[in-house]
Amino acid sequence: MNHLVYIGHQGRGQQWREEFSRQRPDLVFHLGLEGSEGLESHDVRYVVAWQPPKDLIDRFPNLEVLFSLGAGVDHIDLSRMPPAVKLVRMVEPGLRQDMVEYVVWAVLSLKRQIPTYLQQQNQILWKALEGPQALRYRVGVMGLGVLGQAVFRGLQPFDVDLAGWSRTPHSLKGVKCYAGPEALADFLRDTHILVNLLPLTSATHHLVNQAFLELLPAGAVFINAGRGPQVVQQDLLDALDRGHLSHAILDVTDPEPLPASHPLWRHPSVWITPHVAGHSHPNSAAQVVLENIGRHEMGLPMAGLVDRVRGY
Ligand code: NAP
Ligand code: GLV
Repeated sequence: MNHLVYIGHQGRGQQWREEFSRQRPDLVFHLGLEGSEGLESHDVRYVVAWQPPKDLIDRFPNLEVLFSLGAGVDHIDLSRMPPAVKLVRMVEPGLRQDMVEYVVWAVLSLKRQIPTYLQQQNQILWKALEGPQALRYRVGVMGLGVLGQAVFRGLQPFDVDLAGWSRTPHSLKGVKCYAGPEALADFLRDTHILVNLLPLTSATHHLVNQAFLELLPAGAVFINAGRGPQVVQQDLLDALDRGHLSHAILDVTDPEPLPASHPLWRHPSVWITPHVAGHSHPNSAAQVVLENIGRHEMGLPMAGLVDRVRGY
């Protein structure tokens, strides 16, 4: 019999177990490494994990597929993982919908100048600003993958111009698309609300630095729902202090959690959420992994297979 080990949140893991027992009773489901006494480690073919242990392959030498519980896989150390082991990131509708809600909330909050109105409330100041209809906003999304494209669909009903930037060229209806480092300056120059949905790779690490931020128009705002280490945080703080950036909404930071003394916590032009923009939902995520296991067993390509050289 083949075995699967789930390494993650125990409560959500129970829901995964129920889904697997119902649909694949032939596949033995283990909830956590501790709860797997009697486990024939040579029979483990699949692991589902957010943070797998470093010695995963020593524990399970016949592992075939590692399913990430997250859409990002940057935190998974593959240095000891044989190339034959497939890594699959999470592509599932629950997480996607979470991210759409988060980015639409953040974009509309900024478009409607809510940060300024909250500051005015603190000053007991009743003062209407020039309405958003008087301004023309362009929302620029970095990353035109599963999440970036879903976010565009979420933003389509609102009165904003949409643009996107990716590694390779894309053509998306209603979105001005830019690709590659040579197009980055043109993309940023006209972007008022910048949304980061890039995977963390060597090419995107510290991408958002002083030179990058200078390319944005004065008063631009930044929403980071990608990864903290993509940003040089001191450069972000400097841009906010100078007023070059008017606001930032950060769901991810470096490190996480941000130390209590970090100036981003108390910055008047920063809102922070604790890495909650998108999480996989047990039922829909289990369904996707079940389908992928079926595809793997039939020798078909799995959805969300990571290119280990590209890093996402
Ligand atoms: P995806 O489908 O793999 O899409 C990644 C996109 O980024 C692609 O469009 C890709 O370009 C682009 N890209 C990669 N490297 C690039 C580079 N060097 N320059 C320009 N573009 C580059 O990934 P996804 O499912 O949308 O997820 C994106 C990321 O969101 C995840 O990796 C994770 O870090 C983050 N995330 C955060 C949360 C949260 O709660 N904050 C939740 C989920 C995910 P091509 O299309 O040309 O390949
Ligand atoms: C969360 O950050 C994810 O990558 O899914």
